[in-house]
Amino acid sequence: MSEEKIAVLDLAPAHEDFQEQVVAGLSQTPRMLPSKFFYDEIGSALFLKICELPEYYVTRTEMSILRARGPEIARTLGRGIELIGLGTGAGTKTRLLLDHLDAPVAYLPVDISREQLAQSTSAFSREFPSLQILPVCADYLEPFDLPTPLRTPTEKVVYFPGSTIGNLEPQEAQAFLEKITTMAETDGRLLIGVDLKKEKAILEHAYDDEAGVTAKFNLNLLARANRELKAGFDLARWHHHAFYNDAAGRIEMHLVSEAKQAARVGEQNFAFERGEHIITEFSYKYSPSEFIAMADSAGMRFEKLWTDDSQWFGLFLFAVKDRA
Ligand code: TRP
Repeated sequence: MSEEKIAVLDLAPAHEDFQEQVVAGLSQTPRMLPSKFFYDEIGSALFLKICELPEYYVTRTEMSILRARGPEIARTLGRGIELIGLGTGAGTKTRLLLDHLDAPVAYLPVDISREQLAQSTSAFSREFPSLQILPVCADYLEPFDLPTPLRTPTEKVVYFPGSTIGNLEPQEAQAFLEKITTMAETDGRLLIGVDLKKEKAILEHAYDDEAGVTAKFNLNLLARANRELKAGFDLARWHHHAFYNDAAGRIEMHLVSEAKQAARVGEQNFAFERGEHIITEFSYKYSPSEFIAMADSAGMRFEKLWTDDSQWFGLFLFAVKDRA
């Protein structure tokens, strides 16, 4: 079975121009580096470690909600749905849903990682033999086409876990929710994981752990630029800095230069002052009412919120409003 060839619909960008985007990001004010480049092989392995850190409550909490409320969530979604998973990766969370769903007609995982898609597809086809699985390798933030399952579903449900929506700027997040309404179609629904606002210290520890794994993950962007672009960043003179920006309602991850120094990317030379910052990622936190208001503006009607006892994480269910 593991030798079986898996048909992945390949819509992935042929080659993301890392160099071009590093040069563009470092030329901006404030300087930034695009976070999608975190996930090379080393970065992906570090990210899996982050998900297991004692301080990083996000993954654990989302999983605990799925474990405790899986049967109820499945009942609410009903029989015979088509499940479209966005950025579902290894499928650990999706499995907790599929375990309880009543005769879903198809599962369409959309992920940028071809390897994780192939692995989760072969595992799920063994675990759920009557489920049609149609994997799509794509950057789901860009336009892409979805295949049509053999059987007609009762409705389409988009599943977007991991609070990845929080890594988008609010106006981008709203625009993306609008795109999801098109994907799910009228009467379709969205099940989305969102990290909720909470005490600042808990948030800051989650993005700056004791063992320094998140620091390593952040610095891996510079290490990758050294590996792939021969950029010559002196990693000993950069450090990770994460803090919660109250006014903006977001965690900010920065890389801070500890000295006056330079790096070269392609033809371009970049000079950094001591104390200068490069922004690498934001992680917006929402209160339930803020998120519901944003989804409402995007054309979604709030149906249900499942959360943990501390209300640290929310799994929201929305229905696409009839736009006719
Ligand atoms: N979206 C998740 C979050 O913001 C996961 C994530 C993305 C993350 N980039 C990260 C977690 C960097 C830690 C560090 O929490």
